[in-house]
Amino acid sequence: MANVTVIGAQWGDEGKGKIVDWLASRADAVVRFQGGHNAGHTLVIDGKTYKLSLLPSGIVSGTLSVIGNGVVLDPWALRDEVAKVEGQGVSITDDNLAIADNCPLILPLHRDLDGLRETAAGKGKIGTTGRGIGPAYEDKVGRRAIRVCDLAHLDTLEPQLDRLCAHHDALRAGFGQPPVDRAALLEELREIAPFVLRFAQPVWKRLKKVRRAGAKILFEGAQGVLLDVDHGTYPFVTSSNTVSGTAASGSGLGPNSTGFVLGIVKAYTTRVGSGPFPTELEDDIGQRLGERGHEFGTVTGRKRRVGWFDAVLVRQSCAISGVTGIALTKIDVLDGLEKVAICTGYRLRGKVYDYLPSHAADQAECEPIYEEMPGWSESTAGARSYADLPANAIKYIQRIQELIECPVALVSTSPERDDTILMRDPFVD
Ligand code: GDP
Ligand code: IMO
Ligand code: MG
Repeated sequence: MANVTVIGAQWGDEGKGKIVDWLASRADAVVRFQGGHNAGHTLVIDGKTYKLSLLPSGIVSGTLSVIGNGVVLDPWALRDEVAKVEGQGVSITDDNLAIADNCPLILPLHRDLDGLRETAAGKGKIGTTGRGIGPAYEDKVGRRAIRVCDLAHLDTLEPQLDRLCAHHDALRAGFGQPPVDRAALLEELREIAPFVLRFAQPVWKRLKKVRRAGAKILFEGAQGVLLDVDHGTYPFVTSSNTVSGTAASGSGLGPNSTGFVLGIVKAYTTRVGSGPFPTELEDDIGQRLGERGHEFGTVTGRKRRVGWFDAVLVRQSCAISGVTGIALTKIDVLDGLEKVAICTGYRLRGKVYDYLPSHAADQAECEPIYEEMPGWSESTAGARSYADLPANAIKYIQRIQELIECPVALVSTSPERDDTILMRDPFVD
């Protein structure tokens, strides 16, 4: 298996960026295939922190970085991010960054609509990142989107722009908002077009060439399986498919290209935004894990909700996404706890469940059934070999492996790139 597909197996923020960066030096291309700048992937290399939202995490190690057609692209956010990362000394050129020319754009009107809906929903809000992700995907599927390739045809864009704006004007009127200023929008597109077009190309063709040459492709998922629009905790999800299968359709390669599916799994659970969370901890332990794990959103700075490890959810995610092996991250955050708990099932109206039921009301009522294990007082932070881990941490990892029915391929012990234990090489297996 030459290729590796990295996906989040919980509600996002599992540490995908760190693991993708660590694997990227051995890959020939890193490809984002869904989501947009709702993602926030953190890389720490020799003490220097990089926060990426749209740029694939291969960009820092100089690996060819590809934004696939499955991504929704905010061109202004991309320009800001490129400037920020270049300011940190990373070179970004049309040699190391390629953008699919069939990528739909996120426009200011999408951000507006995202915000208007969330405000109107009040307590029932999704808790989106406010980046316009959902509305942009709606327009893609509604066949109204403006795409990267349209930026090369702005002189004939008017009828398309009219159709899109007419749709949005009706929605905006419902929120008491003025219609979209078409001329201003066209002007903004004209101004940003050369920046985006510099990187635009049919990336499926570029990837086909890369693949023919026997190169290794690393697919970088955003969000996590529980935020998948089909398989997640609907409607408290994002608007794309976050599962491994999307790597193929979101980049223009066949389903046999995904290779080793590496599920990234945090040693406990977090979630940002609204929605069910059976193992959520609202006590001192939750507070402590949140502080030790620095659980604040990379994109919005919001405090992440924190809870015990939920083996039911991860087992379900691994099955749905065909996970070959997992990378278990942030084990060091559990250091020093007297006891640790793992959720092994749910109790719902007198019945025991070994999976998360589909209905939101059922999900909200699921009560976790816990198995407790002794914690460890020794430090795992920075460990680079399995033998350096305390015996109880090893027992915890082994129990997780059994319960999720999937092997552990990597363990991460700090935010730093090299504080990573390799047990099974995804590029070789
Ligand atoms: P992503 O969205 O999946 O890429 O994850 P984020 O970057 O949003 O959040 C993960 C956070 O945990 C980041 O701040 C990482 O630097 C940090 N992190 C990653 N792996 C580890 C680890 O093993 N231990 C600790 N303590 N922090 C980690
Ligand atoms: P990474 O790639 C965690 C969540 C939002 C909200 C829901 C819908 O860093 O793991 P959206 O703006 O996508 O319409 O919001 O999805 N969400 C994430 N949570 N990590 C992410 O990305 C997320 N991207 C979106 O908080 O609950
Ligand atoms: Mg994140």
